[in-house]
Amino acid sequence: MKIKKAVIPAAGLGTRVLPASKAMPKEMLPIVDKPAIQYIVEEAVRSGIEDILIITSRGKTTVEDHFDRSPELEERLLRAGKMQVYHEMVAISELANIQYVRQKETKGLGHAVLCAKSFAAGEPFAVLYGDDVILSDTPACGELCAAYEKYGLGVAGIKPVATEQLYKYCSLAVEPLADRIFKVSDMVEKPKPEEVFSNYAILGRVVLPSDIFDILTDLPPGAGGEIQLTDAMKILAKRDGMVGVEFSGERYDMGNKLGILKAIVQVGLKHPEVGNEFAEYLKSIKI
Ligand code: UTP
Repeated sequence: MKIKKAVIPAAGLGTRVLPASKAMPKEMLPIVDKPAIQYIVEEAVRSGIEDILIITSRGKTTVEDHFDRSPELEERLLRAGKMQVYHEMVAISELANIQYVRQKETKGLGHAVLCAKSFAAGEPFAVLYGDDVILSDTPACGELCAAYEKYGLGVAGIKPVATEQLYKYCSLAVEPLADRIFKVSDMVEKPKPEEVFSNYAILGRVVLPSDIFDILTDLPPGAGGEIQLTDAMKILAKRDGMVGVEFSGERYDMGNKLGILKAIVQVGLKHPEVGNEFAEYLKSIKI
């Protein structure tokens, strides 16, 4: 079954990147000249997704404004003859069919995904975490969708994480199935050292069957008192099995200061307008 729908949870408080995220959603933080969430929407579209639901919350209206038309700005660009930028601005509002729903309380990623219940009822859907930008020629979400179409099981985008960092992520019980594809039979969110299954963790992308909504509805709060998507996927993995895809791109965590800096350097160095000068500038800095 082709995956046509995607959910982008973007309702978190972003406490790790305060004060930048105090009045501006962290999902709107720019990587050079484009907000993080636009990279994520573009990845979804390149993966064949047609309908997107963004989960927002209070103070996140700039996300909606960004994907809307902007008549006053467009008029000004037209009058100034800045046709290329004009077309770029209009294209943002035509990227996909985007809808929004508010998560009224920030009760965790699992709770945010549950807000998509009526949007995705009865069909599998992709989840792209709103603060995880993955840069790649092959869209990571598309790699996961292909695995869902092949195996008919829930799919997680995975990568190995350094042992001392695992406590911030989750840890997966994995067995190799094919090149960069694994069977996932169990998982644990924010593992203690004695709970670690492997260094593989889920990073930013999953494709789920709509049964996940029933599991999430009955789920008690987990790590940090939040409704954890990992706890719901653990039930799914133990019941039906899941598939892990070691996606090919590089993932940047825009909810984390170092992640933001790395993303800006990577994109900045390849940027057609400023890349060369930026590279010269970096070489000139004495560290
Ligand atoms: P994070 O756990 O990284 O986001 O969730 P957070 O809660 O904003 O982080 P900190 O710890 O306070 O810095 C991953 C994604 O899920 C969304 C976030 O917006 C982010 O894009 N999320 C998280 C929700 O939509 N709702 C929630 O209740 C929690």
